[in-house]
Amino acid sequence: MSLSAPPLRPVRGPRGLTRPLGNLFAFGKDPLGFLTRLRDEFGDAVTWSLGPRRSLFLSHPEHIMEMLAGREHTFDILEIGWAFKQITGRSVILSKGEDWRRKRSLVQPTVRPRQVRAYAATMVDCAGAAADAWREGERIDVREQMALITQRVVLRTLFGNDLGEQTGALGAAMDVAGQAVGAELRGIGLFLPAWVRTPSRRALLRAVATMDTEVHRLIEARLSAPGDTETSDDLLSRLLAARDEEDRPLSPKEVRDEAVTLWAAGHETTSTALTWAVHLLSRTPTARARLEAELDAVLAGRPPTIDDYERLVWTQQIVKEALRLYPPVWLVPAVARPGATLGGTRVPAGTIVWCSQWTTHRDPRWFPRPDEFRPERWDADAPQAVPDHAWFPFGGGPRTCLGARFAQVEAALVLATLAQRCRLDLPAAEVAPRAALLLQPSVPLMATVRGRAPAPVH
Ligand code: HEM
Repeated sequence: MSLSAPPLRPVRGPRGLTRPLGNLFAFGKDPLGFLTRLRDEFGDAVTWSLGPRRSLFLSHPEHIMEMLAGREHTFDILEIGWAFKQITGRSVILSKGEDWRRKRSLVQPTVRPRQVRAYAATMVDCAGAAADAWREGERIDVREQMALITQRVVLRTLFGNDLGEQTGALGAAMDVAGQAVGAELRGIGLFLPAWVRTPSRRALLRAVATMDTEVHRLIEARLSAPGDTETSDDLLSRLLAARDEEDRPLSPKEVRDEAVTLWAAGHETTSTALTWAVHLLSRTPTARARLEAELDAVLAGRPPTIDDYERLVWTQQIVKEALRLYPPVWLVPAVARPGATLGGTRVPAGTIVWCSQWTTHRDPRWFPRPDEFRPERWDADAPQAVPDHAWFPFGGGPRTCLGARFAQVEAALVLATLAQRCRLDLPAAEVAPRAALLLQPSVPLMATVRGRAPAPVH
């Protein structure tokens, strides 16, 4: 169902403190509540200030999509912070203009649906290996275990089986780097000049050095043994084989940047989505029962494969609904270029335009009973269809997430593999989200593992 785009009529939002602070503190204290109030009290387009910059917050899906779609020519990405750049270098995720176009065209083919097919078995294997290690009645930290699974998936799909003993060290290095990015966003790190070396920045640089050494070693090994069939199917080999329109490959440094970006962008986002899905299923016995019935009917006790994916309809709806309620990426900013317009109205150059998956995904206009976990709202014959563009956990337009298919297949197959074998029971208490770099549960989710026998095969 498509909505028609209303004209954009920005309303002045809360004044906050005097410039340059504006609404910095109110936003920092409770970003999700603050943005929800902007939507509810001021409407679909609200001007406000965050720090010294003029901001515009959008809540209508059609304005949001117009902004996301304009990011090739009308809006730029917002560069914030120092830490993330150290990890990704000059990869697709932070580049602009012609440089971005070239990189995107080189990386995109490596994660096309046909390529993702080849990784499905690894996804199922990694989930199965994690579940094999759990014992009946044991308590596990859901976030930690989901991160372990997605970390293994991304490392194996990127580097094949070449990492061997380095897997643990590399995983730990990425964890340290991820923590440093989160710490920068929460503290005063954002305002520090690049040359200042805090303990967190030093730890980040050490972690990046560990990753660089290993990734460059793997790149060198591939370059010195081209065509090795053992490794030709992994993402690193595909990046090395990629050629642009002028038949130029990515340089080794560029391959490093893209590989580490796919790793950084792909693993914690997906493990966060899985963590929330486990939480929601544990609280919704009817949805869990329907999931188990689907798995028993479609899989009859064998592990899932990519050919089952399309038939795991309810499993996919659970993933969609979990991404709606708890979108791991909850805020997307962009900067207006000169001449930018939205809904026919001019947006002054330099304005930071924000949209939030959190507020749009919980807007009662598009999602009746928005705070309830109801995977059935995604049924093909649901009485009220979800409007186009009201659900955008992967962003949209030319910069839409490169790994959306990878992530959705991974989340569904991991969930299917785990739910087929066991239930992860969490205490009934409500868990509040914490809006850091990603939208994470604010407390550790400690689940009790309960084995389940699949229904007998008829
Ligand atoms: C549930 C998991 C994931 C979520 C929620 C997610 C979300 C997002 C979002 C919101 C964006 C920004 C899109 C925009 O600005 O319109 C993005 C960009 C990106 N994502 Fe994902 N992502 C996920 C998994 C992955 C995976 C598995 C990979 C890689 C295999 C990946 C690679 C990327 C890359 C490279 C970009 C930058 C694209 C560009 O700037 O051209 N993501 N992601």
